[in-house]
This record gives sequence, C-alpha cells and structure tokens, in this order.
Amino acid sequence: MKGVILAGGSGTRLHPLTRITNKHLLPIYDRPMISYAIEALVLAGINEMMLVTGGTHAGEFLRLLGNGHEHGIDRLSYAYQDRPGGIAEALGLAERFVAGDSVLVMLGDNIVERTFRPTVEHFARQGGGARIVLTEADDPAHLRHLGVPEFDAERRITHIIEKPEDPPSNYAVTGIYCYDPSVFEVIGTLEPSGRGELEITDVNNYFVDQRTMSYDILDGFWGDAGESIDAYYAVNDFVRENGANKG
Ligand code: G1P
Repeated sequence: MKGVILAGGSGTRLHPLTRITNKHLLPIYDRPMISYAIEALVLAGINEMMLVTGGTHAGEFLRLLGNGHEHGIDRLSYAYQDRPGGIAEALGLAERFVAGDSVLVMLGDNIVERTFRPTVEHFARQGGGARIVLTEADDPAHLRHLGVPEFDAERRITHIIEKPEDPPSNYAVTGIYCYDPSVFEVIGTLEPSGRGELEITDVNNYFVDQRTMSYDILDGFWGDAGESIDAYYAVNDFVRENGANKG
C-alpha cells in the first residue's frame, strides 16, 4: 500500500499566518505540522509515500523532509498542485505514483493521538473498495465544518454529507482514507462542488453507493488543525500535554 499526504491549499482559514508560509509548516508544539502526518503513516506501516503540495512555499518541504530516510521512509516523492482544486484533485496527481496499488490518503493538517494502523490492516483484509476513519464529535457547531456520515439500522454508512447544516449523526469523517486503485477512475468522473473543488466526500459517496465502503472509529483524540485558529490552538494544547501518534 502506498501513502499520499495532502499538504496543499491556500489555508485561508488561518490567514494571515498562511500568507507567509504553507499551513502544514506551521508549528504544532515542537515540530512543523506535516511531521505528524509523516510519522503517522510510518507508524501505520507505510514506507513509500508521496507528498502533494502547492503554493509559494513548496520548497520548504524538501528542506524539512529531504529524501525521507531520516523519517523512516524508503521512497518519498513530491507532486505540485498548480491551483487549490480540492482534496480529490490533489489525490489525482498521485495516480502514476500509486501505480495500481491501494492507497492510504491523509490530510496533512490532521493530528491523531493513536495510530490508525488497525485500519490499514482491516483494509488489507477487506478485498477492495474503500475504508474511512470516523471520530465521535458531539458538538453540532463543530460537525458543521466537517463531513458527517448518516447510518442505517445496521450501522452501515448510507451517505456522507459535507458540512451539513443539520448533522445527521455524532460522527465526523476524518482526513484518513483507504482506497483500492479504482479511486483514480472515480476522481475522473467528479464535477466541482459549490466551492469550486473536487470533493473527497463525493469520492467517498461513490464507494458508499457501491456498498464497498467500510469504516473504523478512531481511538483517542483527533484534530483538524486547519479548521480554524481556535482548532489550531486546541490541537497545539493537546499535543503539548499528551503527545501524538502513540502506538
Ligand atoms: C475535509 C473534508 C471533510 C473532512 C475534513 C477532515 O474538509 O472535506 O469531509 O471531515 O477534511 O479534516 P476541509 O478541511 O477541506 O474543509
């Protein structure tokens, strides 16, 4: 399985900090944000990965990560997204790197307390389709900024709603996704959403409709440090006190 870390976007929710650097290079406690996603993938057993970035500070990732060997990565590739066209578009840039393998995708601003290695193992046994990681979130105001799944009586996901006015459950879709190689064909069929982006939620709903989508519920803390300046500081406080990426 290959890994893809998405670290592009213009980070407007963290302006003006992100006018002078890429969001994923801002500090979380004692390290640049992106270091946590790299460590999370290595801990999950993935050692070939591609970092997709964009904007004006792309060179800094190379300065930080180099060839990846110091971080436990065998092969680290880079791709550059010309314009912020959405998470699904950014993933599309990794097609040739993934080369028919399955792929674990992580958004570079997501921070986890505990490893999602079990999800990678479950997906390997699943035999194709997709698998996502959910987290429990009780505050509707928070859920309105995220993707939220709707369940049937058997607790299968029936649909995912992106940034719902009226959240259909108490779970959020984190930025951790496993896909079989057909994901790249799905991306090719997407139309831009209202915000002009190719949405990862549309990709996920394709697999939901095919009935090949499963999920795990993450243990411990999850944070999207790019969601707002308050979320950024909440993640910093958590990591400073408790650490991240525990086995
Ligand atoms: C994206 C996804 C959303 C998901 C979130 C997790 O949102 O579209 O479904 O819940 O990441 O971090 P965005 O950060 O693009 O608003």
